[in-house]
Amino acid sequence: ANKKLLILPGDGIGPEVMGEVRRIIGWFERERGLGFDIEEDLVGGCAIDAYGVPLADKTLDLAMGADAVLLGAVGGPKWEPLPFEIRPERGLLKLRKEMQLYANLRPAIVFDELADASTLKHEVVAGLDILIIRELTGDLYFGTPRGVETLPDGTRRGVNTMVYTSPEVRRVARIAFDLARKRGSKVCSVDKANVVETTEMWREEVIKLHGEGYEDIQLSHMYVDNAAMQLVRNPKQFDVIVTGNIFGDILSDEAAMLTGSLGMLPSASLGDPDESGRRRALYEPVHGSAPDITGQGVANPLATVLSFAMMLRYSFDMDAEAEMVEQAVRNVLKSGLRTGDIMQPGMAQVSTTVMGEAIIRE
Ligand code: NAI
Ligand code: MG
Repeated sequence: ANKKLLILPGDGIGPEVMGEVRRIIGWFERERGLGFDIEEDLVGGCAIDAYGVPLADKTLDLAMGADAVLLGAVGGPKWEPLPFEIRPERGLLKLRKEMQLYANLRPAIVFDELADASTLKHEVVAGLDILIIRELTGDLYFGTPRGVETLPDGTRRGVNTMVYTSPEVRRVARIAFDLARKRGSKVCSVDKANVVETTEMWREEVIKLHGEGYEDIQLSHMYVDNAAMQLVRNPKQFDVIVTGNIFGDILSDEAAMLTGSLGMLPSASLGDPDESGRRRALYEPVHGSAPDITGQGVANPLATVLSFAMMLRYSFDMDAEAEMVEQAVRNVLKSGLRTGDIMQPGMAQVSTTVMGEAIIRE
């Protein structure tokens, strides 16, 4: 049966970069006979304009019925004056929540051709290929009690609570172990088990799960402060990193800067498989809607193209096709084509569509 794909281009450069993915999908359909049933809808600011809400119920229904969702970006200055509850970002948050996406995958890959774009030494980052898996639905961001109160003497007291349950730890650790098998078979679990009991339990549960059929994976543990240092000192020591929501938020942004190019960073968010074994999944570039360059045709489509490759690999088990897309990206970079954001001396600056055409040619 054809794979059901929901495409949500969103706002700003979202539709521009998604257009290139549409053309790549068209190529796979024509040249490789792949069949996708594609629906397209609005999310974010454009959905507010058309439907009055950043994520309409009918759009959510399409997402819940799809094999995978591919999203561009949401937001922009036009909608910033709106109250927080109806801002474009709420559409994305609601989508993640309703789809119960608890594992956020953020690869940090440095293409050798772009290693100089990093602020780190070439030899530290060249060839880097790590995957950070951040738990997305628990931790300080959702735990209760929470809030700020004013005590009788006028002192203000802020409270947030780090909460995880063992099933929450196990399900995200399982994704880490499963994906590590598709990569370098190494998982580093990051915690602060020396001072934070919640993460002590995290570590124990990861170790337990490792003993239940994942003995082929090389498992290590690291305190988050050390992990932050090691990511800068020697990031290539890692393969898969798995960690909680707040540590993952910080470490994944740190890892993004190892690559130095926002326009190149894909991501995926995964949930549980349903009765038919289909895992809920959302794929999107890490970057936002880039209002400063919207409409100029200069946006880098590669983060979205690489998100599409992740979709092929993780939702559809089309590893060969995913590899084709990633190899095409490497070849295009090797041939010297660059969008403005990754421009280097001596290279040819090209538009969004020329970059897309070059990918298809490769
Ligand atoms: P941004 O990621 O949109 O842009 C940051 C800088 O990087 C800008 O100078 C932009 O031109 C550049 N950039 C980003 N993607 C690029 C690409 N593909 N090619 C070339 N250059 C690129 O972040 P910013 O400016 O903080 O936010 C802009 C809007 O996007 C805001 O409304 C924000 O709320 C929203 N946003 C949405 C996200 C999402 O949909 N997941 C994530 C981050 C921000
Ligand atoms: Mg962050």
